[in-house]
Amino acid sequence: MADTANTPAYESDALIAQDIDAYLEAHQHKTMLRFITCGSVDDGKSTLIGRLLYDSKMIFEDQLAALESDSRRIGTQGQEIDFALLVDGLAAEREQGITIDVAYRFFSTEKRKFIVADCPGHEQYTRNMVTGASTADLAVILVDARKGVLVQTRRHSFLCHQLGIRSVVLAVNKMDLVGYDRAVFERIVADYRDFAATIGIENFTAIPISGFKGDNITAAPSANTPWYDGPSLIDHLESVEVLSAADAGKPFRMPVQWVNRPDLDFRGFSGLIASGTIASGDAVRVLPSGRTSSVASVVTFDGDLDRAIAGQSVTLTLADEIDCSRGNVIAAADDPPQVADQFEATVVWLADEDLHVGRGYWLKLATQTVSATVQEPKYRIDVNTMERLAAKTLSLNDIGVAEVFADKPLVFEPYATNRTLGGFILIDKATNATVAAGMLHFSLRRSQNVHWQATDITREHHAALKNQTPRVLWFTGLSGSGKSTIANEVEKQLALMNRHTFLLDGDNVRHGLNKDLGFTEADRIENIRRIGEVAKLMADAGLIVLTAFISPFRAERQMVRDMLAENEFIEIFVDTPLEVAEARDVKGLYRKAREGKLKNFTGIDSPYEPPENPDIVVNTVDMTPEEAAQYIIRRILPLK
Ligand code: ADX
Repeated sequence: MADTANTPAYESDALIAQDIDAYLEAHQHKTMLRFITCGSVDDGKSTLIGRLLYDSKMIFEDQLAALESDSRRIGTQGQEIDFALLVDGLAAEREQGITIDVAYRFFSTEKRKFIVADCPGHEQYTRNMVTGASTADLAVILVDARKGVLVQTRRHSFLCHQLGIRSVVLAVNKMDLVGYDRAVFERIVADYRDFAATIGIENFTAIPISGFKGDNITAAPSANTPWYDGPSLIDHLESVEVLSAADAGKPFRMPVQWVNRPDLDFRGFSGLIASGTIASGDAVRVLPSGRTSSVASVVTFDGDLDRAIAGQSVTLTLADEIDCSRGNVIAAADDPPQVADQFEATVVWLADEDLHVGRGYWLKLATQTVSATVQEPKYRIDVNTMERLAAKTLSLNDIGVAEVFADKPLVFEPYATNRTLGGFILIDKATNATVAAGMLHFSLRRSQNVHWQATDITREHHAALKNQTPRVLWFTGLSGSGKSTIANEVEKQLALMNRHTFLLDGDNVRHGLNKDLGFTEADRIENIRRIGEVAKLMADAGLIVLTAFISPFRAERQMVRDMLAENEFIEIFVDTPLEVAEARDVKGLYRKAREGKLKNFTGIDSPYEPPENPDIVVNTVDMTPEEAAQYIIRRILPLK
């Protein structure tokens, strides 16, 4: 057997692809099962995995030697080798600097090869579990026979089910410590069955084991459990039907990773086939455009193939020159996936900072990346009771259901049908950290029935009639900093220059369009989103728009900038210090805030994030509002 097959790999998902390829090469003839082991800290997970690796002789000789001497040094109560040392040792090695801490190990038996994802069990490691479970076919849920079904057991089972795992093994471990008592085993199985039914797990296989002593793990049935006549763990893992293999039977889908264009004669589309099979001559449809063609050839590194199936990486050439780029999906022409921009989804929150309802995050789904917002959750799920609780946002480890709005159409399928085209992650735009994982349920019907209506009079036409270039002069700063006063002054001067303008002011807009909004973070985000949309429409109409809102968050100001044409958004920071604004206290609001009579007041108990690169900075300490206005006008000229 090739060395590569023996190497336990323990890298994050992105790094693992190469190892998996090498591994697959060496084991082409066998089927593969990917599984995840879930357990709490002391359930004996490491011991169990160590034993699986050891019994299938998949441990490097030198690792084995080290293990034997470590075990001797530490002393293992008469047992020759402490298997837990092996696994924990590997985990410790890779913990530094890797945020997603999932250890993947490869091993194989006569009948099958395996990739096991081992995820630390603490609650704070939900992100690891989500990562591990999202590619697994089967979950081994470990329960300590002395403790029975715990909160963690429920949490892990629920997550595994949500992430599409349809094969569950309930491994009741440490049977040796309860005297191999059948009644204990059966009580735990009954408990788990009751719970499993509530979350939609219809079937599972329960096995009484001892990772420490080796009962019912490898082939021979244990003499200690004569009352148990089911399979050993390995027997089961070797024979259970791999459901993901059924992906090959589904309609063809391949998200395009890149366009392969080595020279002018060759243009191929490369990607990993997510489902179905493909052969030259097959009719395909490129989404979201909907254009059709047929496959001219299926190219791989080792030459052309007659047919390729789900799980293979290929390059397709098409019979026609049609537009297709990274992020598009090539699919069966007569059975394509859907395209939509609004969805209901389950969202698992993985970041310390709460979800900001309405804020734009990068959403990555297969090879597509769009900007998306999450609406206020419909509910979050108490993973202990499976109750649906009211929620305004999602915090670390929360699992909720919410509507997700993308700014561009996505090619997708429900997660339950296709993990690749239904699973997504959310990324914070400022920090680039992955903050959530999600599973799409369905698209909202309104998103399919509302289309963009192309109009004949374009925004350029509107602007040309007004003889000006549309702009959005976005004033930001503390309450009482002078935004409205200066914006008003700028508008007056623009009017004298015969410019067509409109001023949107915080206090005024909050009397009408936004009178349903308060000053919580979510409401402020929604306030700015609506103002942004209105400003954009007015700019489309050819106007020079002035806005005077505190707009305290960088992310939302950036969002508005991104909504508009290049150079149209001009961020004007009214940089009046808090002490000055507070001393003036024109509306008496700072006093109320200091007295605790007004909550969430910007600068007092609600943050203000000053612009990092404002286009223009003014203040009302060194200059009068008229001077500030003059300065701004000079900076934005010419207006044509
Ligand atoms: S923003 O934060 O959502 O951009 P916006 O500019 O619309 O705020 O409204 C700010 C104005 O609302 C302030 O100038 C002030 O008159 C009033 N206001 C009332 N309550 C608050 C508060 N808690 N924080 C800030 N401004 C408040």
